[in-house]
Amino acid sequence: MSSITMKRRMVLWFIGFFIVWNIATYFLFTRPGNTDDHMFKSSKEFSERLNRLQGRLKDQMVLNEQLLHEIEQEKVKIINKIKNIPAANEEHQPPKLIIQDQENEKPAEESKPDYPFHTYKIPIVVIACNRPSAIKRSLNSLLDTRPSAEQFPIYVSQDCGDQKTANEIRTFGDKVVHMRQPDLSPIANLPANQKKFEGYYKISRHYKWALDQMFIRNSFDAVIIVEDDLDVSVDFFEYFLATYPLLKEDPTLWCVSAWNDNGRDTRIEKNPGLLYRSDFFPGLGWMLLRDAWLELAPKWPAGFWDDWMRLPDQRRDRSCIRPEISRTDTFGKFGVSKGQFFEQHLKFITLNKEFYSFTTKDLSYLLKKNYDPAFKERVYGVDEWTLQEIKTNQGQGPSEVRITYTDKNSFKSITKALGIMQDLKSGVPRTGYLGIVTCVFNGQRIYIAPGRHWSGYHVDWS
Ligand code: UD1
Ligand code: MN
Repeated sequence: MSSITMKRRMVLWFIGFFIVWNIATYFLFTRPGNTDDHMFKSSKEFSERLNRLQGRLKDQMVLNEQLLHEIEQEKVKIINKIKNIPAANEEHQPPKLIIQDQENEKPAEESKPDYPFHTYKIPIVVIACNRPSAIKRSLNSLLDTRPSAEQFPIYVSQDCGDQKTANEIRTFGDKVVHMRQPDLSPIANLPANQKKFEGYYKISRHYKWALDQMFIRNSFDAVIIVEDDLDVSVDFFEYFLATYPLLKEDPTLWCVSAWNDNGRDTRIEKNPGLLYRSDFFPGLGWMLLRDAWLELAPKWPAGFWDDWMRLPDQRRDRSCIRPEISRTDTFGKFGVSKGQFFEQHLKFITLNKEFYSFTTKDLSYLLKKNYDPAFKERVYGVDEWTLQEIKTNQGQGPSEVRITYTDKNSFKSITKALGIMQDLKSGVPRTGYLGIVTCVFNGQRIYIAPGRHWSGYHVDWS
């Protein structure tokens, strides 16, 4: 066929297509009863249908992610079976570690596991809204202490559509990825008594979107979540890097947090290496795995996401790792919660100043199987003192003592007297582990503990 006939054919095709297209659009949009009202109704229906479709697509994406993840896990199981590796706990072992142990031909327990820290990639997402100076300060704090841009890429997720904040983020250029939460509409159908809490609903909506971007759109395996009013310590990244394999390995852990709710200068031991398990979800600079997000995302709440995380249905008896000396510090006096809590409490929390090389230490003591027996033995092995004795001895005597609480009121009066947080969420006290809260008072380590035969938290204690 000559090129002229070819061109002619294409022109004919094009004209034909153009005519059909016009006829089709004419019939589509000008069918019977083409009044404004009808147009409005059908476009409303159309947009509703689109919304429904979008919702279904989103759900489907989550399901696909779950499926993909299950397939990956099955693959690891099969590979390990072929290589004849013991099946214990295989669901939660990162495949790299299993293979490495086998190469070294020694069981994991025998010595400190040699984790390939330099291969881990743990992105950060900074939750931002409308505070330009805050986002500048928090991003500088992260960038100043970040050991590697490849291992710790920083994403800023911006809600609220504030232009000044957007400009500030833009000044960081390609050092950060700027994402914008697209839905800036008011929260629909808020009951009248919730109007004053709209901010908390917006925060929740933003978290859902931002974490979907990180875990589903970008498929990251682990993410560190920080808010725009947090400073981070010099060893913030080191801390998360070192605890990442523990989070992968121990199914009874669901987060690592940088925050100690009772981390006031006079209530902590000046030991930067000291870490604990906590049944209380602390937030404020925390790491989550994709598995956990896939579980939480489909039922994510409309508001008050952090307290929702603390409900038994979400926590499901899982714990977080938290430090004795906080690795984050909030400077957000003017936030959604209006600064009261900040003035009374948050501003006193101490930020760790000394770099601690966590990745060179054996942290396997934090795994539940090692931690629980040792922790109980320690707490219930020390002398039991009364509040009176603690107060009058002023730190003299044994370096550690225990004080027993028997009910909610005694818990409250002890913590009040010792100057630490008294509140409980879903029955779990801040920093509590197995019902035990610990702090330093007059230089003495105090364990505030229930009786030895503790049977679990009382969800109604608040
Ligand atoms: C408090 C908690 C915070 C939690 C929030 C929701 C402390 C110190 N802070 O927020 O960890 O997430 O309750 O329960 O306990 N933001 C948006 N959209 C908005 C408003 C705010 O994305 O419309 C972002 C902010 O940029 C910030 C975060 O949400 O990153 C929290 O907002 P903030 O104003 O700091 O409120 P707090 O009272 O500190
Ligand atoms: Mn805040």
